Amino acid sequence: MQVIILDTPEQVAEKSAQWVTELIEQKPAAVLGLATGSTPISLYQLLVEQYRQGVLSFANVTTFNLDEYHNIAAENLQSYRTFMQKHLFEHVDIAVSRTFLPTCSAEQNPRLQGEEYEQLIKAKGGIDLQILGIGANGHIGFNEPTSSLASRTRIKTLTKQTLADNSRLFTQDEVQPTMAMTMGIATILEANHVLLMATGENKASAVKQMITGPLNAMCPASALQLHQHAVIIIDKAAASELTEQDYFLWADKEQRKVTDDHGLLTVC
Ligand code: PGA
Repeated sequence: MQVIILDTPEQVAEKSAQWVTELIEQKPAAVLGLATGSTPISLYQLLVEQYRQGVLSFANVTTFNLDEYHNIAAENLQSYRTFMQKHLFEHVDIAVSRTFLPTCSAEQNPRLQGEEYEQLIKAKGGIDLQILGIGANGHIGFNEPTSSLASRTRIKTLTKQTLADNSRLFTQDEVQPTMAMTMGIATILEANHVLLMATGENKASAVKQMITGPLNAMCPASALQLHQHAVIIIDKAAASELTEQDYFLWADKEQRKVTDDHGLLTVC
């Protein structure tokens, strides 16, 4: 696990954007795993800016989102399809036909839909870089605490904490879905690289458990300890409960000597 601690959320977005940019430069037909939530919005803004400046193209990129609410219409303002359109897809040269989310309507069988999503990821050659956020309860995607570490794309019931955390995003007239389709933990672990972004003090406890806690289904993000190429990019507030901060800051400085010559993707 490579842990990069930066001063501000803006720097977290900038560093994360560098990883995505480097990947697409090296592999224009990259397969990106994408996340929704507040944290990656500033990353997407930077990617859009780079596209507008003509230094980045998504023309050959394929994307797979981590999750989508169960039985939600794509055009619903609360769907993760709408979120991705609004924050990234509408503003860059990506082919919408190469952007995928794990959808499941009321008429569809969640198990079959999950299996199909897994097959599709495989058919596209697997995910090169998976972007992740982390829930205050340690979830990644909608893999809530107690999720099997061997889980695959499937339907999950959200916890009360996640529903409360996300309720700020819904108006009084909107129904907040309680179930979602999500890539599983084993699906996420199969990505070539994973990049988890976290900012703010409310993530500090989950971040600590993820990095230094026991591998434990109660903190699904701790499964990233098993990943060969995981980079965790966090701000000081999210790092505030880590007792190993000094080591991570020093290690990052040392690593930069290597990445300056060989690129970010060579050290993780
Ligand atoms: P947030 O969500 O970025 O809105 O904090 C992260 C997550 O729940 O994965």
